[in-house]
Formats: sequence, C-alpha cells, structure tokens
Amino acid sequence: MVSSEVKVLVVDDDSFVRDMLAMILGTGGYDVTTAGNGADALSRYSREPGIGLVISDMNMPEMNGLELIRNLRGAEDDVPIVILTGNNEISVAVEALNSGASDYLLKDENIQDTLLLSAAKVLEKHHLKRQNLQLMRDLALKNSELEKSNGELLALNALKNKFLGIAAHDLRNPLTSIRGLSEILIGETFGPLTEEQKEYLTIINTTSDEMLSLVNDLLDVSVIESGKLELLIAPRSLKEVIEERIRMNTVVAERKGISLQSGLAGPDEVPDILFDAHRIAQVIDNLVGNAIKFSPPGSSLLISLAREGNAAKVSVCDEGPGIPPEERSKLFGEFQKLSVQPTGGERSTGLGLAIVKKIVDAHRGSLSVESQVGSGSTFSFFLPLDSGVEECGREQFGTHQEGK
Ligand SMILES: Nc1ncnc2c1ncn2[C@@H]1O[C@H](COP(=O)(O)OP(=O)(O)O)[C@@H](O)[C@H]1O
Ligand SMILES: [Mg+2]
Repeated sequence: MVSSEVKVLVVDDDSFVRDMLAMILGTGGYDVTTAGNGADALSRYSREPGIGLVISDMNMPEMNGLELIRNLRGAEDDVPIVILTGNNEISVAVEALNSGASDYLLKDENIQDTLLLSAAKVLEKHHLKRQNLQLMRDLALKNSELEKSNGELLALNALKNKFLGIAAHDLRNPLTSIRGLSEILIGETFGPLTEEQKEYLTIINTTSDEMLSLVNDLLDVSVIESGKLELLIAPRSLKEVIEERIRMNTVVAERKGISLQSGLAGPDEVPDILFDAHRIAQVIDNLVGNAIKFSPPGSSLLISLAREGNAAKVSVCDEGPGIPPEERSKLFGEFQKLSVQPTGGERSTGLGLAIVKKIVDAHRGSLSVESQVGSGSTFSFFLPLDSGVEECGREQFGTHQEGK
C-alpha cells in the first residue's frame, strides 16, 4: 500500500506537537488531517471520509485517548489507532492496547523514526487482516456453494437409484416370463420342434437369463446404494454355505473343463457365526463365478475356509491370467471392467465385485486380493467371528441413507 493513499487523523491538544507529527507524517507521504481532542476527532472522523489511520495523544481535555479508542471501537470501526504518550507507564500501554489500540508509542527524541515505522507496520497489519477477512468470506461463500451442489448431487444420486430400482424391478417380471416360457417350449411340451426352432429358442432362453441376472445386479446396486439393504442375520455354518455354493457352481465349471477343489476348516476351527446366508452365498457365487469366467479351460480353482486371527477367511484361488497391478484400484468400483476378459464369451458388466464389497462391508468384514499376472488371483473375504451384528436382527446398511 502506498502511504500517500492513506489519510491520517492526528489528534493532540498541543498544537506544537500536532504540527510536528503532521510534518513527520507529511514527509512520509501521508495525507494528514488534525484534531485538538477526542471529541473533535470523533466528529472529524465521521465527517471526513477515507481516514485510514488515527494517531492520538493519550491525555487531552474533553475526551482523552482511551475514550476516543472506545468510541471508535464502539462504532465497530476497525480503523487502526496508534496511541502516543509522554510518560513511560506500562499500565497505560496495556490499557490502550486492551481497549483496541493497534500500537503504542512514546513521545521521545526518536519519534520521527518510530512514528513512521509504526504507521507503516500498523497499516500493513491492517491490510493483511482485511485480506484475511476477505479470504475467509470467499471461503465461506465457496463452502456454501459446495454444500449446495453436494446436496443437489446427493438428491440426483437418490433419484438415479430410484429410477434404477423402478426400471430394473419392472423389467424383472416380463424377463422371468420370457425365460420360463422359452424353457417350456424347448422341453417340447407343445409338440416337437425343428433343430432351427430349438436353436433360436435356446438363444432366447440364455439371453433372457443373462438379462435377468443383469437386472438383478442393477436392483442390488440400487437397493444397497439407497441404504435399503436389509441383512437377515442368523448363526450359520459358513462351511455348509460354501459346500452348497460349490455344488451349485460345479456344473458351470465342468462345462468349461475347470475343476473345483476345496479345503474347508471344520467347526473346531471356524465355529458358527452370524451372517446373512443369502447375501454371503451371493458373495461366494460372484467370486467363484469370476474365477470360472476369467480362467482358461482345463485350469482348477481352490476354495478354502480357515480361521485367521479373530475372523473366518474364505478364499477363492484361481489359475487365471491375474490382474495387472495398475488396474487393481478399480476392481471394486461399479461398472468397472478391466483388461482381463472372460475366456468363454461370458457376460461382463463390472457390477459383481462392487456388490461383493458392499455386502462384505455390511457384515463389518473385509476383502483382500492377491494376484500375480500370468499365474492367477486369490480373492479372500473375512468375516469377524464376533461381528457385533444382532442375531436374527435386520441390519440396514447403505452407502447413502436417504429418506425411507
Ligand atoms: N478372478 C479374476 N481374475 C482376473 N480378473 C478378474 C477376476 N475377477 C474379476 N476380474 C476383473 O475385474 C473386473 C470386474 O469384476 P466384476 O465386478 O465381477 O465384473 P464382471 O464379472 O461383470 O466383469 C472383471 O471384468 C475382470 O476384468
Ligand atoms: Mg463378476
């Protein structure tokens, strides 16, 4: 800030001192105006716009320096005030500073230097304070803008989930009919079919089946995202659930020439724990399904259950292509398909692992992936033996809770 841009009000009852101070400030390039006491200074301050600094004597008739400070501060004006006195009393300095003075100077033989130094210092400080205040105001404004757009985004996200839920839900019934009816026709219940008719009906059947599982995945995402996933928690044997899922997945694996092996710990090592059997079955199906989908024919899969610390660990280990390290961070994101492609022309949407993560999180569990490009991947999930979730309770879980 250039000093000539600042108008200084000098207040002193001694006209000699007043003129001397005005002269010193004048040599410093300041525009100076004067007053003979506090009352005079107050009226001048309110009449003359643009006063940016007040330099005032302490002892004056009518209204002294302290009262002047209090009056100026009382008007909530933050103009910097420098107090001058002839006596070197620390209590006066403290009182002046406590009342809102910015600096305190002694009228001694160094006044020429100290006055200009103090004026420059006080003005610089004031300027910085102003800048700071402006920055805080800008920040508060930006913050409220961010909060507003955040709120809008949350509302749009909730709308997206609602739309997704309604669309997927309404597609499910007709798709189930198409799948079921095509199955009946393929079974030749209504008479024999030509090879061509059978071939086309089979395409209709598998396509509607694939669409149905996509629609189910979309429904899951919408349900979980909108905070409406309900876990039906009950004590169960994880080993039994895994064995059942292995049986269900064996047909698909065999069709691709992939063998399923298992190494499952008994109840001594992994006792019954609380979990939602339907949802954990979905997690296992997704991991085993991926292992089958992305592994080459002729390879084998190992599904294991073991205890690790205070958790049950379920691992699915494959001999597939492995996952490139730079892509691993995307694995559990929605609609994230990586460079690894299905080896048998299977469907891929990139939703499976996102759902897996949400279900495991809802159980207060965790996931890990170990993978070596060229030699396979191991996906593991951990369920705490003491999960803290309520038995037979319905736990509601979601990444975002909206009005229900
Ligand atoms: N066992 C695996 N081996 C190699 N890549 C895998 C494996 N599991 C998942 N991936 C990669 O992660 C991506 C995301 O998996 P997922 O979310 O289950 O979606 P989708 O199975 O529909 O492709 C897959 O498209 C694939 O590229
Ligand atoms: Mg998958």
